[in-house]
Amino acid sequence: MLEQLKDLHAQALDELNKVNSLRELELWRVRHLGKKSSLTKILRSLAALPLEERRNGGAKANEIKRALESSLEEKKKLLQEALLTSPLESQTLDVTLPGRPLPTGRLHPTTQALKEICDVFKNMGFQVIEGPDVEWDYYNFEALNIPQHHPARDMFATLWIDAGIGGKARLLRTHTSPMQIRLMERERPPIRAIVPGRAYRYEATDATHESMFYQVEGLAVDKNITLADLKGTLFDFCRCLFGEERKVRFRCDYFPFVEPGVEVAIGCSACGGAGCRLCGYSGWIEILGAGMVHPDVLARVNIDPEIYSGFAFGLGVERIPMLRYGIDDIRLFYSNDLRFLRQF
Ligand code: DAH
Repeated sequence: MLEQLKDLHAQALDELNKVNSLRELELWRVRHLGKKSSLTKILRSLAALPLEERRNGGAKANEIKRALESSLEEKKKLLQEALLTSPLESQTLDVTLPGRPLPTGRLHPTTQALKEICDVFKNMGFQVIEGPDVEWDYYNFEALNIPQHHPARDMFATLWIDAGIGGKARLLRTHTSPMQIRLMERERPPIRAIVPGRAYRYEATDATHESMFYQVEGLAVDKNITLADLKGTLFDFCRCLFGEERKVRFRCDYFPFVEPGVEVAIGCSACGGAGCRLCGYSGWIEILGAGMVHPDVLARVNIDPEIYSGFAFGLGVERIPMLRYGIDDIRLFYSNDLRFLRQF
């Protein structure tokens, strides 16, 4: 019987080695330790044996039973652990893989240009202020010497909001110049300010015209301000933005709210002044309008033109990146095409 028990033990351990799941383990338990197992049968048959044999056989059979039970527990533990770790192993995270690229945001080319323009004037001591996009006729036109039937209104294709009487009609400002009036109404000289902001025109859009675009207005009012101050300021500005070597030209122009009015142009970067398509074969590119604030405009806001004088200017913001990067269509700025915007 002792031989038989030894074989039983060896066979059970051999089979246990091949068990690969908790289900198989349960079948193994029933087979080797269950009620109908050979071991149980032997234990039951002990009673019929003579005393000596019963004692030896019983001790051995119980020893094997305990050994198998502890082997079972051990195997169970191993299988349960494997159940937890195997999915972790098959689903590992490879931390050496390159990350997914996160698209970085960037400033719009107009915002970049605005910032650059404002920085130049801030360094010269100008303050930066903003004003409303929806404006009264009075500020946009009348106070700037452009009364109701003045032909200069033709320069501005206006988007009207409502039809008020006289200066009481509302519109989307056609330029940032109305802020000159608002500024002079609430501050006394000395004034040095620039106004970045949107302007609107009711226009068929094309490569050089958008119905919404940005301008920066400038205004300086004080005693003894002369055309030389205007020239010095704008000359410096142009060279800051377009380089020390750039030629800058001042010529007469007409704007109702300044006298005299000037137009400022820089030497064409594409042809170096020889003349090309970009500059209309003139060698020059206009970048802003300016002038000495008209005495009537000063008088209207109760600043005595006998004592004070000032200069003003207005420039188109998109023109600057257009010139710098050779962008030939202003509509690209506001059509939200990422292929365009990502280049800046
Ligand atoms: N407001 C004018 C425009 O939009 C530009 C301008 C010209 C502004 C002369 C000025 C100036 O301040 O003095 O066309």
